[in-house]
Amino acid sequence: IPKLKLGGMEKAMPVIGMGTASFPMADLETTKAAVLEAIKAGYRHFDTAFAYGSETALGEAVAEALRLGLIDSRSDLFITTKLNLKVEYVDMYLIHWPVRLTEMVRKTPVPVEIVKPLDIKGAWKGMEECVNLGLTKAIGVSNFSIKTLDHLLSTAKIPPTLNQVEMNPYWQQKKLREFCKERGVHVTAYSPLGANNTKWGDDRILGNEVLADIAKAMGKTTAQVALRWVYEQGVSIASKSFNKERMTQNLQIFDWCLSDQDLENISQLPQAKGVTLASILGPHPLVLEIDADL
Ligand code: A2P
Repeated sequence: IPKLKLGGMEKAMPVIGMGTASFPMADLETTKAAVLEAIKAGYRHFDTAFAYGSETALGEAVAEALRLGLIDSRSDLFITTKLNLKVEYVDMYLIHWPVRLTEMVRKTPVPVEIVKPLDIKGAWKGMEECVNLGLTKAIGVSNFSIKTLDHLLSTAKIPPTLNQVEMNPYWQQKKLREFCKERGVHVTAYSPLGANNTKWGDDRILGNEVLADIAKAMGKTTAQVALRWVYEQGVSIASKSFNKERMTQNLQIFDWCLSDQDLENISQLPQAKGVTLASILGPHPLVLEIDADL
């Protein structure tokens, strides 16, 4: 798996990471088993968050992988999270959404009174403190629009290493990617397969005919074509599968490439955002504003 050297980081980040958000939320043992299976399949980068309910399972799986000798040390893994888990430090710590909840709840829709604007300057000071305390190697953001990222960049002492956003052939994020490139912020794609079978996704990628035709002609799967397309844009990937065959399949994207014609056909696909904060928190005015900006 190719790795990327990101600004100021000693450890390189594997370009594909295993996402651990499942719908409905998987129990601890299922997630733990999937993480162990993924480590056996060759994954060395994991993406989690408080909101996914998978951070404890990931922490326990890492401990188990060490016990089983699947990895030699914690440092063999690159762990991205959006809150705390059972490891001594994380590699990448992200602000999950540019919004503040006054209570941590997982039920939806969340009560409107707990949804507040994010104090970007204050929150980022806290993130920088995490770096200074050695709790994380690097810090970044997720679901930040050009406007919000620009605001953050104007106040940050330690600039965000990356912005993790929805990106796939149906939501190509051309403008945001251009802005990030100019400002030296790496982009990671979530929902590269359209998050099929979740509350926040659908089959518009895996059921797409243009992608399916390319896949057929190349002897690949539609999922592999979508992942390869993301990778060819210079973007790293957080993609979820808890299935052993599909986990392995999703790593087989580094020894072939898409043709210029394939890229041209994909660039013509109609664009529509799939994931909204409103679908997660409820259609509160502030949330709708954040969605409209992204
Ligand atoms: P599963 O865990 O059963 O494999 P995304 O990466 O966009 O978030 O999409 C994740 C969804 O896509 C999950 O429902 C996952 O289901 C499914 N998925 C992952 N890899 C593949 C694949 N190679 N082929 C078909 N479906 C896949």
